[in-house]
Amino acid sequence: MQNEKVLVLDFGGQYNQLIARRVRECNVYCEVHPYNMPIDKIKAFGAKGIIFTGGPNSVFGEDSPKIDKEIFELGIPVLGICYGCQFTAYSLGGMVLHAPVSEYGKTLVTVDNNSLLFKDCKKETNVWMSHTDYVSKVPDGFKITAHTESCPVAAMENAEKKLYAVQFHPEVMHSEEGMKMLSAFVYDVCGCVGDWKMADFAKSTIKSLREKIGNGKVLCALSGGVDSSVAAVLLSKAVGKQLTCVFVDQGLLRKNEGDEVEAVFGPNGPYNLNFVRVNAQERFYAKLKGVTDPERKRKIIGEEFIRVFEEEAKKIGAVDFLVQGTIYPDVIESGLGKSAVIKSHHNVGGLPSVVNFKEIIEPLRLLFKDEVRKVGLELGIPEYLVYRQPFPGPGLGIRIIGEVTAEKVRIVQEADYIYREEIAKAGVDKSCNLGQYFAALTNMQSVGVMGDFRTYDYAIALRAVQTSDFMTADWARIPYDVLDIVSRRIVNEVKGVNRVLLDCTSKPPATIEFE
Ligand code: XMP
Repeated sequence: MQNEKVLVLDFGGQYNQLIARRVRECNVYCEVHPYNMPIDKIKAFGAKGIIFTGGPNSVFGEDSPKIDKEIFELGIPVLGICYGCQFTAYSLGGMVLHAPVSEYGKTLVTVDNNSLLFKDCKKETNVWMSHTDYVSKVPDGFKITAHTESCPVAAMENAEKKLYAVQFHPEVMHSEEGMKMLSAFVYDVCGCVGDWKMADFAKSTIKSLREKIGNGKVLCALSGGVDSSVAAVLLSKAVGKQLTCVFVDQGLLRKNEGDEVEAVFGPNGPYNLNFVRVNAQERFYAKLKGVTDPERKRKIIGEEFIRVFEEEAKKIGAVDFLVQGTIYPDVIESGLGKSAVIKSHHNVGGLPSVVNFKEIIEPLRLLFKDEVRKVGLELGIPEYLVYRQPFPGPGLGIRIIGEVTAEKVRIVQEADYIYREEIAKAGVDKSCNLGQYFAALTNMQSVGVMGDFRTYDYAIALRAVQTSDFMTADWARIPYDVLDIVSRRIVNEVKGVNRVLLDCTSKPPATIEFE
């Protein structure tokens, strides 16, 4: 039986996958395709609804992305968002103008509650705007269903033809009732019933992985983090013992982590995987000696990883596929399409250009972290593993500012261990809803006094954030008495540290990790 589907046509906007994710949250299967998907393919896709994303272009641009007008005649409901709204108006004979000033950010919009899209919304509701061009006159057959103080057409529709368009972004969290609008489109306009769940993602991914891999051999880069663990279990369900998981201890793991990962995925664990542990600490430290630039460090660690994998692959012989647990925020922040590069995430931007594998498989590439966790639970992975806080591919390498040395690794490992221990003891991970928390070693040394002696030692920074998707985050207000114990234990127990600092910055403008 085929699931009902929604097709998202991508005009190059920042939020295209977020739209897909919101549709999935409505329990409707959804795929994102480029705007120039041929019309025959669109028809064959069998969507119950089509959503046009926003995009950076203006409809007036010569090479701005356009879709054949026929798309509006297929009888499939359409929702145009931002550029998608302007494109709809422009194509169907409305008028689009270039405004002298952009409208950007949270904006109060007045909606027509007679519209199916807004039937459950307040009359005045906050939405997220980000545009310069705007629709000044709607096409024949359309009516205006929302406006703001400066935008005469914040939404328009031709209900008879099931064509809807909104100038704002219902998919982002700042649009307070955006989810109601998207759900109204999917359920009330498109007539979906919501027949898709994360278990279906697992099932269909396992099936398509099996088809793609055939009899091939697969190597999985297992870090023990949530993402690569879910990817490994997904792959092992697809191709069993054709999969070998390689776990590289690069000397940048948290305290005891190597042994913990081996206990779960190794020969005595519950998964019956081919598991190889490579102890490559010295090799990584040698490559990182004297390197201080964060991007260089990321690239070196990423590249060395691949070299280790290649060597392991040679031992196994004829490896066809390399699996990685890359998830969606890694992909966009590494600069997908025209988005700006924030960091070269290991597994994506950190990859060297020549890799000796036929293909890299990233089964979680389009999922957000909380969706990966849902898949993990569907696969029967125990909760304590699924809800483990994320740990970045380059490990402590990006939590030690500046040059990495074995001594600095020891310091940050010890401090982080104490921090995690006290957080667990006080139950703060749950009570403060922590998404991620760790200690980092600043490169700063400062003067202290211990006993009767002067010290000149490192400062440890404590980081803890609340986040749902890791693309934005707020710093967590951990109770002072917990911080007090952590701070005192760190300076007393970790040699080389005489100061503990608290990072109280959100993302943006900071990032979660320090490098
Ligand atoms: P940032 O520091 O970019 O982190 O705000 C967002 C989330 O991504 C994790 N992170 C990484 N994960 N490879 C990964 O697999 C990486 O190179 C990487 N860099 C950051 C980070 O821990 C946080 O959860």
